[in-house]
Amino acid sequence: MTTRRIILAGGSGFLGHQLAAHFAARGNEVVILSRSARPLDRARSVVWDGRRLGVWAEEFEGARAVINLAGRSVDCRYTARNRREILESRVHSTRVVGEAIARCQTSPQAWLNASTATLYRHTYGPPHDESSQDMDSASEAKDAFSVEVAQAWERALAEAHTPHTHKVALRTSMVLGHGANSVFPVLRRLTRLGLGGRQGDGRQYVSWIHQTDFCRALEWVIDHTELIGPVNICAPHPLPNAEMMRLFRQACGAPFGLPATAWMLELGAFVLRTETELILKSRRVVPGRLLETGFEFAFPEMRSALAELNRQA
Ligand SMILES: NC(=O)c1ccc[n+]([C@@H]2O[C@H](COP(=O)([O-])OP(=O)(O)OC[C@H]3O[C@@H](n4cnc5c(N)ncnc54)[C@H](OP(=O)(O)O)[C@@H]3O)[C@@H](O)[C@H]2O)c1
Repeated sequence: MTTRRIILAGGSGFLGHQLAAHFAARGNEVVILSRSARPLDRARSVVWDGRRLGVWAEEFEGARAVINLAGRSVDCRYTARNRREILESRVHSTRVVGEAIARCQTSPQAWLNASTATLYRHTYGPPHDESSQDMDSASEAKDAFSVEVAQAWERALAEAHTPHTHKVALRTSMVLGHGANSVFPVLRRLTRLGLGGRQGDGRQYVSWIHQTDFCRALEWVIDHTELIGPVNICAPHPLPNAEMMRLFRQACGAPFGLPATAWMLELGAFVLRTETELILKSRRVVPGRLLETGFEFAFPEMRSALAELNRQA
């Protein structure tokens, strides 16, 4: 028998919180798999280690969907240790989720596994939809490691033998929302301090999605069983960084914004223990399959997305 249970593996972070609220409000039972037990408002917390099968796997029986979000944050310096953790946390968690699904008597209806829109090639040219096979890294984007991680992540998903479960790779762009791990509060703060100018030369495209549309899109994917394989989870209108920062200044009522050149960003990234690739890679990605299947975005344009997020801040 199938249930209204939604499993959020690695669901204790930014996106997991958004999804837990979304699915709980719509009458689902939400279970969060985390490496540490914690009391939660809208969900039940179950401990796993993201590597080995355990009693947690019993939660998968007849679930409506398993959504795997586990992964060490990429917002850090890419030291050898961090690289290993970033890669292994994604590949191991994907493998063990696949093993747990394969052992179910009643398979979960859907398995949505996090991936990333960073998989597509750095480009200023035509946008990538899911038909694009152009996934090489580019030296100017310094994205070789991220692309390698994304490919290994999706390979682990593809290799899992779960024939009775509708399986999807979520090629998600930057999600704009209110969580501690979201870019929105960071850029809003910088803009209010007068630092909301373009970053680098400002030509690089930014693909993004509002947190509400992120949750709605995942529910859409669960319900549309024809959506198997990769699905781009992003708004239909990516825009150049300079334009995005102009909209931030407008939303925050900031009369000016100092630009940050590439070398200033390198220095800032070093001090803040992060990487410039997260800002300077040109990600021009569009949601081909969501649009083809009739998904309607509540926030297709960044202007309205920022206005709404600002009202709620
Ligand atoms: N946020 C975005 O804009 C965005 C965009 C594209 C893709 N994604 C991907 O979507 C996923 C979720 O994003 P998020 O923003 O919600 O991330 P997040 O806030 O960092 O949450 C990720 C969760 O993964 C778990 N985790 C961390 N290190 C782990 C490890 N070594 N082994 C197993 N689990 C580990 C943590 O849960 P516990 O500590 O409770 O175990 C954490 O709460 C990530 O894989 C991310 O790469 C995010």
